[in-house]
Amino acid sequence: MNEMNGQIEKLNRLKKERNAVILAHYYQDGTIQDVADFLGDSLALAQAAKKTSADVILFCGVHFMAETAKILNPNKTVIIPDMKAGCSLADSAPPEKFREWTLAHPDHTVISYINCSAAVKALSDIICTSANAEKIVMSVPEAIPILFAPDKYLGAHIAKKTGRKLTLWDGSCEVHEQFSEIEVINLMNKYPDALVLAHPECTENLLQYADYIGSTTGIINFAANNNTTNEFIILTEPGVIHHLEKNTKGKTFIPVPGLDGCACNNCPHMKLNTIDKMINALETLQPEIILPEEIRIAALKPLERMLELS
Ligand code: 13P
Ligand code: SF4
Repeated sequence: MNEMNGQIEKLNRLKKERNAVILAHYYQDGTIQDVADFLGDSLALAQAAKKTSADVILFCGVHFMAETAKILNPNKTVIIPDMKAGCSLADSAPPEKFREWTLAHPDHTVISYINCSAAVKALSDIICTSANAEKIVMSVPEAIPILFAPDKYLGAHIAKKTGRKLTLWDGSCEVHEQFSEIEVINLMNKYPDALVLAHPECTENLLQYADYIGSTTGIINFAANNNTTNEFIILTEPGVIHHLEKNTKGKTFIPVPGLDGCACNNCPHMKLNTIDKMINALETLQPEIILPEEIRIAALKPLERMLELS
């Protein structure tokens, strides 16, 4: 038995002993995706967290995702392999500055993308993900103005799609804004039959080339079900390609490199999680997500509103 198989056996044994469930996002390393009990985008992961009957949730994703699981499950132990697994979008909205922004726009409905801290969720009216942002925005009566945070690119895309005027927070994803437009054009020339599938966190100059724009699950479903071509240029974190290659036959998925060929198309936060850190988390039940109860209760309301509307 090689070393990795031994570690995975240990992980599975600990998981049973702890009555734990492993939830993982598509941007995790392939090995983590393969040991997960449930794999999904941020909407599906929040829905799975709400449903689980396990005592412990080992959340393989970034901090705001694990926090969301804790908001929904105050009586469960929620652990994350590496507490430093953050998100540039969540970091772009410090709660105090965010509070000032909402107070300056008292007549607005506040829609926050799920990529934000629990404290920011607690100051919001409704949460959305990339899978349901359009529906959530459209659920607000037309006469009511909307604040949309923290992703300005997702916000601009949804404003364009819905025709609604959204006042945007100035935040962005450090990964999706690094993709190179020149590389997309080069790949489109090299693979003329390929369809371009993009995540709405990408900048507008990149989204203009997309044949499909959607969440990670949306991209995966589109690529798996589309039979007009066998080639797909993937304009999001390349972690999704592991799942696509495992679950489809005869299709080619082409990742888009970052600016100047850097490896920055990989989310550095997601990639902090490892099998060894997962084992440690199950052994010690640390690092654990702990939330002040008043923040959790305030954050639950807009999150439940989203889940009801989804
Ligand atoms: P999804 O909800 O599409 O999985 O996106 C989460 C995310 O962080 C994308 O960068
Ligand atoms: Fe955050 Fe971007 Fe990483 Fe998604 S890819 S978790 S938005 S930093």
